[in-house]
Amino acid sequence: MTKEAQIGIIGSGAMGSGIAQVAAMAGHQVVLYDNNTAALEKAKTSLSSALQKLQEKGKITSAAELLNQFTFADSILSFAGCSLIIEAIVERLEVKKSVFGEVEIVVNADCILASNTSSLSITSIAASCKKPERVIGLHFFNPAPLMALVEIIPAIQTDPGLITMAKELMLQWGKLPVIAKDTPGFIVNRIARPYYGEAIRLFEEGIASIAAIDKVMTEIAGFRMGPFALMDYIGHDVNYVVTETVFQSFFYDPRYKPSFSQKRLLEAGWLGRKSGRGFYNYASGDDIKGDATDMSTAGLIMDRILAMLINEAVDALYLGVASVADIETAMTKGVNYPKGLLQWCDEWGASNCLAVLDGLYEEYHEDRYRSSPLLRKHAAGNKKFV
Ligand code: NAI
Repeated sequence: MTKEAQIGIIGSGAMGSGIAQVAAMAGHQVVLYDNNTAALEKAKTSLSSALQKLQEKGKITSAAELLNQFTFADSILSFAGCSLIIEAIVERLEVKKSVFGEVEIVVNADCILASNTSSLSITSIAASCKKPERVIGLHFFNPAPLMALVEIIPAIQTDPGLITMAKELMLQWGKLPVIAKDTPGFIVNRIARPYYGEAIRLFEEGIASIAAIDKVMTEIAGFRMGPFALMDYIGHDVNYVVTETVFQSFFYDPRYKPSFSQKRLLEAGWLGRKSGRGFYNYASGDDIKGDATDMSTAGLIMDRILAMLINEAVDALYLGVASVADIETAMTKGVNYPKGLLQWCDEWGASNCLAVLDGLYEEYHEDRYRSSPLLRKHAAGNKKFV
């Protein structure tokens, strides 16, 4: 696809306007559509100030010229000349399906239709189209202009040629594309689940305080944010809902089971940083500097969370969700993990990781702690992943 190709974006919220900025900066004319005029006005203002800042920093020559590449549209008829449409509207399957159906009538026969959904099946969205082979998932990360990773998700109906085309286009846009099978959570939102889930479990069992767990995972394991601080930052309305959706989509596999601790925060409206209170109470200054005295459990905390994360990464590889290289890129670029989980497994030793999981399985007799057959194979053969 050349720079002359016009790109259409449906939904001018956080993701839609970010993706629109990325496409414009790559040289495209962009049609940004929203069915809410106030949202569209807001996007215009925020894009204009984002581009102004980039101009001040010398990253672009003219904010005004870049802004001229945008058409802010309140009707999908404006998509008529587009070669690629990226949908970033509310995360509801029925709404997305109906919008895809409407857009397909407006665009030409070879226009590609992409969805930025985080949790819905691309296959089910594609099924709403007359030409499902032109539908693909393009999952950007927030904020889209800054985060390099894009997960490309072909539906089972997608024309295989589209995958290569999407990959090339994302590279042209300065992104790091990875290919993911159309399975719940794709790569990042699947493999990252135990970072939250196992941390909460350790806390619920009274093994350590939230501050201690966060301290271990940042200061010893090297993650940028501890699991509780990160959940508070993401917001429990988003993070809990992703966990619950992934759990349901995996036919209630106990490995992804949500927690009551987090559900109660959501019910109380304690959504995290944005509402002043989540796992931590930001209003009272009891933030991540809270009590972290019980550090005697550091090894146990790190081993449990890391073993569960590695197991998830290995199982995603085992089930063909993505390649070794793409799994490593996804977790280091999509959620800034200090190193790829498969490389971490190699360094720690598959047998050591397996011993932690088997120990947990033995202790709890829960399917949650079952190891991936591939991890067991690597442990037995003393093999490396990377
Ligand atoms: P948002 O709430 O900021 O923006 C959604 C926009 O879509 C709103 O401006 C709304 O007016 C508009 N909209 C809703 N229904 C519409 C319709 N029928 N036709 C046209 N416009 C409509 O949401 P956000 O955060 O930008 O998310 C959008 C999509 O991106 C969702 O599918 C979400 O799962 C996905 N996503 C979100 C990420 C995030 O961190 N926020 C990260 C990656 C993907």
